[in-house]
Amino acid sequence: MTDAPLIARDVHASYGKLHVLRGITLSVGSAEGAVLLGANGCGKSTLMRALNGLERIERGEIIANGISIPSASRAQLRKARAGMGYVFQQFNLVPQLTAYQNVLFGIMGQRPLGILNCLNMFASHEDRERALECLHRVGLSDRAEHRPSELSGGQQQRVAIARMLMQSPRIVIADEPIASLDPKAGREVLELLWRIVDEDRLSLLCTLHQLDLAREFGTRLIGMKAGRIALDCPAADVARSDLDALYHGQVRVDETLERTAA
Ligand SMILES: Nc1ncnc2c1ncn2[C@@H]1O[C@H](COP(=O)(O)OP(=O)(O)O)[C@@H](O)[C@H]1O
Ligand SMILES: [Mg+2]
Repeated sequence: MTDAPLIARDVHASYGKLHVLRGITLSVGSAEGAVLLGANGCGKSTLMRALNGLERIERGEIIANGISIPSASRAQLRKARAGMGYVFQQFNLVPQLTAYQNVLFGIMGQRPLGILNCLNMFASHEDRERALECLHRVGLSDRAEHRPSELSGGQQQRVAIARMLMQSPRIVIADEPIASLDPKAGREVLELLWRIVDEDRLSLLCTLHQLDLAREFGTRLIGMKAGRIALDCPAADVARSDLDALYHGQVRVDETLERTAA
């Protein structure tokens, strides 16, 4: 799929002697919510950081919104990142700011004056309206003036998603977005993410550890094992045993090193 918003080809990356990404090839199309699965230590987070240009790669190609990430200039990288939303396990909200101000914070990278914008006085009428609209989209209009400490985990993650929507991303990378949430709040966050993928025709790559949720939400499932892609197909074609296999045998990239050390 050469016109996909997010493409990786034969990507290799290492930390010192630890070869973490061992030739990763994948693509995520428009209006596609792909779930990335794999045991802890198989390289998922490293891959996600590499896709976003936060991790240097040694070999291969990454193209995000038409921009080659490994060879991008600083200005191009900024542009590429502006079009890519990132959702973390820890919501990374600013504790001193209200939900509304945290959402305004989402445009920080794209406006001069940075944090002053969030303190409202310098934010344009248009930005303020958009921040309220983003909060509305995640169902939190009535929590605009609350600080993160006054919100539940699920609500905080929804504020983080509203902040990301402020960027108008084409690509969303979500690294274990529900790992800190209870099952009900986790499901609500997934429903929200997949609704946004549909409505805005985004490309979502989302890691999850719950195989049932992966099969329920993912249009495509991509499995990693020890730094390589072990599975990549439509969710409907994946048997439960294929998924279970991702968690057996040598799954971590540092497993052989650990064995030598033990
Ligand atoms: N910044 C880092 N420096 C050194 N090693 C790292 C770093 N980040 C991750 N690793 C190692 O890379 C391997 C893959 O980690 P990671 O990408 O976080 O996997 P996953 O997200 O699938 O759990 C692990 O062995 C981990 O210890
Ligand atoms: Mg991880």
